[in-house]
Amino acid sequence: MPCSRAKAWLLIASLFGVILFSNDFAAAEEQPPEQASAAQMMDDLMYGRGTVGGPFTLTDQTGRKRSDSEFRGKLMVVYFGYTYCPDVCPADLMAITQALDALGPAAEGIQPIFITVDPERDSRVLADYVAAFHRSLVGLTGSPEEIRKVANAYKAFYAKGPIERGAEYSIDHAGVIYLMGRAGEYLGFMPPQTSPDRLTEVLRKYLAK
Ligand code: NI
Repeated sequence: MPCSRAKAWLLIASLFGVILFSNDFAAAEEQPPEQASAAQMMDDLMYGRGTVGGPFTLTDQTGRKRSDSEFRGKLMVVYFGYTYCPDVCPADLMAITQALDALGPAAEGIQPIFITVDPERDSRVLADYVAAFHRSLVGLTGSPEEIRKVANAYKAFYAKGPIERGAEYSIDHAGVIYLMGRAGEYLGFMPPQTSPDRLTEVLRKYLAK
Protein backbone atom coordinates (compact mmCIF):
# COMPACT_ATOMS: atom_id res chain seq x y z
CA MET A 1 0.00 0.00 0.00
CA PRO A 2 2.33 2.64 -1.23
CA CYS A 3 1.96 6.13 0.10
CA SER A 4 -1.50 5.41 1.40
CA ARG A 5 -3.56 6.62 4.26
CA ALA A 6 -3.12 3.24 5.87
CA LYS A 7 0.64 3.74 5.74
CA ALA A 8 0.29 7.13 7.36
CA TRP A 9 -1.76 5.60 10.12
CA LEU A 10 0.81 2.89 10.59
CA LEU A 11 3.35 5.63 11.14
CA ILE A 12 1.13 7.33 13.66
CA ALA A 13 0.34 4.05 15.37
CA SER A 14 4.04 3.37 15.67
CA LEU A 15 4.45 6.68 17.49
CA PHE A 16 2.58 4.96 20.28
CA GLY A 17 4.89 2.01 20.22
CA VAL A 18 2.73 -0.23 18.05
CA ILE A 19 5.37 -1.24 15.55
CA LEU A 20 3.55 -3.07 12.79
CA PHE A 21 5.73 -2.74 9.73
CA SER A 22 5.14 -6.33 8.68
CA ASN A 23 5.06 -5.59 4.93
CA ASP A 24 8.32 -3.67 5.15
CA PHE A 25 10.39 -6.75 5.82
CA ALA A 26 9.62 -7.90 2.29
CA ALA A 27 10.42 -4.44 0.92
CA ALA A 28 13.69 -4.36 2.84
CA GLU A 29 14.91 -7.52 1.12
CA GLU A 30 14.63 -5.84 -2.27
CA GLN A 31 16.62 -2.84 -1.14
CA PRO A 32 20.34 -2.47 -1.69
CA PRO A 33 22.25 -3.05 1.53
CA GLU A 34 23.12 0.64 1.94
CA GLN A 35 19.65 1.35 3.30
CA ALA A 36 18.42 0.26 6.70
CA SER A 37 14.95 -1.24 6.91
CA ALA A 38 11.94 1.07 7.02
CA ALA A 39 11.25 0.00 10.57
CA GLN A 40 14.81 0.73 11.66
CA MET A 41 14.87 4.16 10.00
CA MET A 42 11.48 5.13 11.39
CA ASP A 43 12.42 3.89 14.82
CA ASP A 44 15.66 5.88 14.79
CA LEU A 45 13.79 8.97 13.60
CA MET A 46 11.04 8.73 16.19
CA TYR A 47 13.32 8.07 19.11
CA GLY A 48 15.90 10.61 18.02
CA ARG A 49 18.73 8.14 17.48
CA GLY A 50 21.56 9.39 15.33
CA THR A 51 21.56 12.54 13.21
CA VAL A 52 18.91 13.77 10.77
CA GLY A 53 19.76 15.92 7.76
CA GLY A 54 23.10 17.32 6.74
CA PRO A 55 24.70 18.83 3.67
CA PHE A 56 23.38 18.11 0.19
CA THR A 57 23.83 19.34 -3.35
CA LEU A 58 21.09 18.37 -5.79
CA THR A 59 19.58 19.75 -9.01
CA ASP A 60 16.46 21.93 -8.92
CA GLN A 61 13.48 22.02 -11.28
CA THR A 62 15.28 24.52 -13.52
CA GLY A 63 18.44 22.43 -13.78
CA ARG A 64 20.48 24.48 -11.29
CA LYS A 65 22.65 22.89 -8.62
CA ARG A 66 21.33 23.79 -5.18
CA SER A 67 22.91 23.20 -1.79
CA ASP A 68 21.39 23.28 1.66
CA SER A 69 23.92 25.96 2.61
CA GLU A 70 22.05 28.48 0.39
CA PHE A 71 19.09 28.30 2.74
CA ARG A 72 20.87 29.29 5.94
CA GLY A 73 18.95 31.94 7.82
CA LYS A 74 15.64 30.35 6.83
CA LEU A 75 13.74 27.45 8.29
CA MET A 76 13.65 24.56 5.84
CA VAL A 77 10.57 22.40 5.42
CA VAL A 78 11.82 19.26 3.67
CA TYR A 79 9.54 16.66 2.11
CA PHE A 80 10.55 13.48 0.28
CA GLY A 81 8.00 12.19 -2.20
CA TYR A 82 7.28 11.60 -5.86
CA THR A 83 5.09 13.32 -8.40
CA TYR A 84 3.13 10.20 -9.39
CA CYS A 85 2.04 9.70 -5.77
CA PRO A 86 -1.75 9.56 -5.91
CA ASP A 87 -2.72 10.96 -2.55
CA VAL A 88 -0.39 11.59 0.37
CA CYS A 89 2.28 13.66 -1.39
CA PRO A 90 -0.09 16.11 -3.06
CA ALA A 91 -2.13 16.44 0.14
CA ASP A 92 0.94 17.15 2.25
CA LEU A 93 2.41 19.58 -0.29
CA MET A 94 -0.94 21.36 -0.43
CA ALA A 95 -1.00 21.55 3.37
CA ILE A 96 2.49 23.07 3.34
CA THR A 97 1.36 25.53 0.66
CA GLN A 98 -1.72 26.52 2.67
CA ALA A 99 0.36 26.97 5.82
CA LEU A 100 2.82 29.23 4.00
CA ASP A 101 -0.06 31.26 2.55
CA ALA A 102 -1.57 31.58 6.03
CA LEU A 103 1.72 32.92 7.40
CA GLY A 104 1.69 35.80 4.91
CA PRO A 105 4.94 37.80 4.65
CA ALA A 106 6.49 35.75 7.50
CA ALA A 107 6.62 32.80 5.07
CA GLU A 108 9.65 34.50 3.50
CA GLY A 109 11.54 33.05 6.45
CA ILE A 110 10.75 29.51 5.34
CA GLN A 111 12.17 27.52 2.43
CA PRO A 112 9.96 24.60 1.40
CA ILE A 113 11.84 21.82 -0.40
CA PHE A 114 10.46 18.78 -2.22
CA ILE A 115 13.02 16.05 -2.89
CA THR A 116 11.90 13.41 -5.34
CA VAL A 117 12.54 9.79 -4.49
CA ASP A 118 11.70 8.89 -8.09
CA PRO A 119 14.35 10.79 -10.07
CA GLU A 120 14.08 8.53 -13.13
CA ARG A 121 10.50 9.59 -13.82
CA ASP A 122 10.31 12.93 -12.01
CA SER A 123 13.26 14.88 -13.38
CA ARG A 124 11.32 15.75 -16.55
CA VAL A 125 8.09 16.79 -14.83
CA LEU A 126 9.43 18.38 -11.66
CA ALA A 127 9.06 22.02 -12.81
CA ASP A 128 5.38 21.61 -13.68
CA TYR A 129 4.74 19.68 -10.50
CA VAL A 130 6.22 22.17 -8.03
CA ALA A 131 4.50 25.04 -9.87
CA ALA A 132 1.18 23.54 -8.79
CA PHE A 133 2.07 24.26 -5.15
CA HIS A 134 3.68 27.23 -3.38
CA ARG A 135 5.68 29.68 -5.54
CA SER A 136 8.68 29.33 -3.23
CA LEU A 137 8.72 25.51 -3.37
CA VAL A 138 12.04 24.19 -4.68
CA GLY A 139 11.94 20.73 -6.28
CA LEU A 140 15.15 18.75 -6.12
CA THR A 141 16.32 15.75 -8.06
CA GLY A 142 19.59 13.98 -8.73
CA SER A 143 21.02 10.63 -9.63
CA PRO A 144 19.46 7.66 -7.82
CA GLU A 145 22.66 7.42 -5.76
CA GLU A 146 22.57 11.11 -4.81
CA ILE A 147 18.94 10.89 -3.77
CA ARG A 148 19.53 7.72 -1.75
CA LYS A 149 22.38 9.38 0.11
CA VAL A 150 20.31 12.45 1.08
CA ALA A 151 17.30 10.31 2.02
CA ASN A 152 19.47 8.10 4.20
CA ALA A 153 20.83 11.19 5.95
CA TYR A 154 17.24 12.23 6.71
CA LYS A 155 16.26 8.67 7.68
CA ALA A 156 13.67 8.88 4.90
CA PHE A 157 12.76 5.36 3.85
CA TYR A 158 11.57 4.66 0.30
CA ALA A 159 11.33 1.57 -1.86
CA LYS A 160 10.14 1.13 -5.42
CA GLY A 161 7.17 -1.21 -5.70
CA PRO A 162 6.74 -3.90 -8.36
CA ILE A 163 6.30 -2.82 -11.98
CA GLU A 164 2.57 -2.86 -12.70
CA ARG A 165 0.81 -2.59 -16.04
CA GLY A 166 2.90 -0.80 -18.61
CA ALA A 167 6.00 0.54 -16.90
CA GLU A 168 4.12 1.92 -13.93
CA TYR A 169 5.14 1.47 -10.34
CA SER A 170 4.48 3.13 -7.06
CA ILE A 171 6.93 3.97 -4.33
CA ASP A 172 6.50 3.14 -0.70
CA HIS A 173 7.71 6.07 1.37
CA ALA A 174 7.22 7.51 4.82
CA GLY A 175 6.16 11.05 3.84
CA VAL A 176 7.03 12.82 7.06
CA ILE A 177 7.49 16.60 6.99
CA TYR A 178 10.92 17.60 8.28
CA LEU A 179 11.57 20.94 9.93
CA MET A 180 15.16 22.21 9.89
CA GLY A 181 16.44 25.32 11.69
CA ARG A 182 18.16 28.42 10.37
CA ALA A 183 21.59 26.87 10.79
CA GLY A 184 20.47 23.69 9.04
CA GLU A 185 19.97 21.81 12.29
CA TYR A 186 17.19 19.27 12.67
CA LEU A 187 14.26 20.56 14.73
CA GLY A 188 11.80 17.70 14.31
CA PHE A 189 9.24 16.13 12.03
CA MET A 190 5.51 16.30 11.58
CA PRO A 191 3.52 13.24 10.52
CA PRO A 192 1.94 12.86 7.08
CA GLN A 193 -1.46 14.54 6.84
CA THR A 194 -0.72 17.14 9.47
CA SER A 195 -3.42 19.76 8.93
CA PRO A 196 -2.54 23.13 7.41
CA ASP A 197 -3.66 24.84 10.63
CA ARG A 198 -1.37 22.71 12.75
CA LEU A 199 1.53 23.25 10.37
CA THR A 200 0.93 26.99 10.46
CA GLU A 201 0.94 26.92 14.26
CA VAL A 202 4.20 24.96 14.44
CA LEU A 203 5.93 27.09 11.80
CA ARG A 204 4.81 30.32 13.48
CA LYS A 205 6.27 29.11 16.75
CA TYR A 206 9.68 28.39 15.20
CA LEU A 207 9.66 31.62 13.18
CA ALA A 208 9.26 33.53 16.45
CA LYS A 209 12.37 31.93 17.98
NI1 NI B 1 3.61 10.12 -1.55
